[in-house]
Amino acid sequence: MFVCLCHGITDKQIARAVREEGVGNMRDLRKQFGVGSQCGKCVQLAQQVIDNTIVDE
Ligand code: FES
Repeated sequence: MFVCLCHGITDKQIARAVREEGVGNMRDLRKQFGVGSQCGKCVQLAQQVIDNTIVDE
């Protein structure tokens, strides 16, 4: 599912970045993919995906 439509980023891409690339918060995610840097509508959902991925580990 797409989380950030502005940048075409999916929940799977975010989860992988958290697991494999050391992304731990929105700031890292924005740096990596630009998530949240345009309309900002995705920020809450992206944060949830980060949190859920960290909890799953
Ligand atoms: Fe992510 Fe617009 S949907 S910045």
